[in-house]
Amino acid sequence: MHLLNKVGKTPLIRLTMDGFNRMDIFVKLEYYNPTGSVKDRAASYILPKLLNDNLINHDTTVIESSSGNFGIALSTYCRFLNLNFLCVIDPNITPVNEVLIKNLSSEVIKVTVPDKHGGYLLSRINKVKDLLKTRENSYWINQYASCYNAEAYYESLGSEICDELDHIDYLFMGVSSGGTITGVSQRVKERFPTCKVIAVDTEGSVIFGGQAKKRYIPGVGSSMVPDILTQSRIDDVVIIEEYKAVQMCHRLLRENSMFIGGSSGLVLSAIEKYFRGKNLSIRPRVLTIFPDRGERYMDTIYNADWCNRFLSISTTVN
Ligand SMILES: Cc1ncc(COP(=O)(O)O)c(C=O)c1O
Repeated sequence: MHLLNKVGKTPLIRLTMDGFNRMDIFVKLEYYNPTGSVKDRAASYILPKLLNDNLINHDTTVIESSSGNFGIALSTYCRFLNLNFLCVIDPNITPVNEVLIKNLSSEVIKVTVPDKHGGYLLSRINKVKDLLKTRENSYWINQYASCYNAEAYYESLGSEICDELDHIDYLFMGVSSGGTITGVSQRVKERFPTCKVIAVDTEGSVIFGGQAKKRYIPGVGSSMVPDILTQSRIDDVVIIEEYKAVQMCHRLLRENSMFIGGSSGLVLSAIEKYFRGKNLSIRPRVLTIFPDRGERYMDTIYNADWCNRFLSISTTVN
């Protein structure tokens, strides 16, 4: 069996950490997927579906706008399935992701002009729309709107969670395209109707109505509201400042020897914030995921100068 067929069945661990003693926290380590992130689940599910539905064929140019894990996963699985992949990236891409995407994709286009919000999301989407008009037989994956994105997580991650645990009180998930939380919340609520689903987002993201501002941690948050979120089953939202997520990443490295990506620190910070000061009559069972590893954030979250410059935090991690 090929390595890329080894998606899912990621380890489920119980996390013990100072300050989290009043609850049982279980974490799915999604960085065990073949290309290193939770996005393997979406890419490896969506592409065969599109082939099967004849929405794409081996002459199609598959297009997506992504400077992160989804771009890495799609470029890898397109290569594996012998598909042409064009990735639209922007200048905020990290050097590591740029090397990976450039080596794995058939073609890469980097937009350079910021949009009216000062970011690049709208510029990337406009570039994709131009490409769809000018390239015959091209197809936009569009993770923000594709029903297959959420379906991937319903079928794989959501099912695994329901098979592995006999009870869950709370599910905490970071949000970007909304695929993970939408699919998993639907599946988990079917099996555990009383489970509360808590969406986690960063300050500066507009997904849950916040004020847009410059964000530095890739992977979570968005400057537009994803269409697929309308199908999600969210009970509550916790917004976390980025520096707190980064400090939690550093703490996990020091205290638990876990080298994780920014959104993992984000969800843990959200769990801490959500339960702080709450009277708990039971010992809740909380489930979350760690979407990716720390390596992709060596130039940012695990770089002391960057932490100091962009988030005004001093750290001994470097
Ligand atoms: C690195 C990373 N990838 C993917 C996701 C999930 O995002 P989406 O909402 O696009 O499924 C997250 C969310 O926490 C993330 O941090």
